[in-house]
Amino acid sequence: MEKKDIKVGLVGLGTVGLGVAKVLSSNSDLIAKRVTPISLKRIVDKNVTVAKEKAVEIGYSADIVTDDFNDILNDAEISVVVELIGGIHPAYEFIKSALLAGKNVVTANKDLMASLGGELLHIAEEQGRDLMFEASVAGGIPILHALKECLSGNKIQKIMGIVNGTTNFILTQMSQTGADFASCLAEAQELGYAEADPTNDIEGFDAARKVAILASIAFNSRVIDTDVYVEGISNIQDIDIKYARELGYGIKMLGIAKEDNGEIEARVHPALIPLQHPLASVNDSFNAVFVTGDAVGDTMFYGRGAGELPTASAVVGDIMESARNICQEVTGRIACTCFEDKRIKHMDETISKYYIRLAVMDDPGVLSRITKAFGDNKVSLSSVMQKGHNNKQGDAAQIVLITHTVLEANVQKALKEAQALDCLYEIKSLIRVEKR
Ligand code: HSE
Repeated sequence: MEKKDIKVGLVGLGTVGLGVAKVLSSNSDLIAKRVTPISLKRIVDKNVTVAKEKAVEIGYSADIVTDDFNDILNDAEISVVVELIGGIHPAYEFIKSALLAGKNVVTANKDLMASLGGELLHIAEEQGRDLMFEASVAGGIPILHALKECLSGNKIQKIMGIVNGTTNFILTQMSQTGADFASCLAEAQELGYAEADPTNDIEGFDAARKVAILASIAFNSRVIDTDVYVEGISNIQDIDIKYARELGYGIKMLGIAKEDNGEIEARVHPALIPLQHPLASVNDSFNAVFVTGDAVGDTMFYGRGAGELPTASAVVGDIMESARNICQEVTGRIACTCFEDKRIKHMDETISKYYIRLAVMDDPGVLSRITKAFGDNKVSLSSVMQKGHNNKQGDAAQIVLITHTVLEANVQKALKEAQALDCLYEIKSLIRVEKR
């Protein structure tokens, strides 16, 4: 392979951008030996003054910093554009114009790839250019390349991932200290794991974007963020974590993508998972993706899903791969992997086991009236427990039901029917139970 000097233009000198600039400089010798010399020629950031200071601090010249994206676009020497500003606009416009100008693009932008990724990948394909986005899912964990290349001989059956570090940190804290959701969220915010407005993370939207990207690649059919069923963790009670543990389960926020009879299931929600499952011991802000393929069986990829250097690791890996493609004149080698159009199941059509906690009247006959509502709707129960002791007749009692594997629509109908009974005070929790 003839080595060429590859020049990179970086858009966005935030946390990850700074990490990329650092790794490109600190590992430059290794990068040149492994692939080809790669150097950062331009940095675009809307806050030029701060960006210049940051660039100088890590050994770059202030002169390479500009606030005009055209300085990258019109620079014929720059062959790889790295987009790290996040969000849909103007990232979409920057990437599109870079591809149309014949440049290769590396991005960490999950919001964009999970919504308009299909269109951008087709543009890349038409242009014969690379559009790589390894860092968009689970930060430093090399899961997209694993699915696209190393595991591509497999029919992927299921992906289950802990793909949001913020919620994993909160659930780990709740489980290890017994504290409630609000105080664990406050701690996550203090430590910088959760943002001031934590909605995207705790309500599951961030994870849904990652599941959309994973499912699209695993099943070769476009899944976008709004196709993914989403439930967050803000309703998880400390008492449910305690009861789950007594039953031999941990509670994790899971992103799940499955293919069943040519149809795709894509969902994000908290779930009980057996304590022996490898995902149950993925704690703190770590991420992990558990992939089951028909040939390989079960695999698990574990690591840091966010942060300056872990995310930069994935971005630099993509830059190096694109640089190799440029040297070999084979850019655009792996473009859009979605060559099918599979139906995405509605949540009602999915099946699962369920953990259900109800506050009911503590009177004779109540249990049989409640369980009848489940039986009448074909929801078979595998265990029924009354938790806690109450003082006098008529007080609320807690009952915890675990179902067999049943249809979601039937569970919802059963709960609606049970809710109409005067002996059911409140449905406290409904959490799915995953086996493997
Ligand atoms: N906010 C994400 C998380 C990281 O908590 O994992 C970036 O996607």
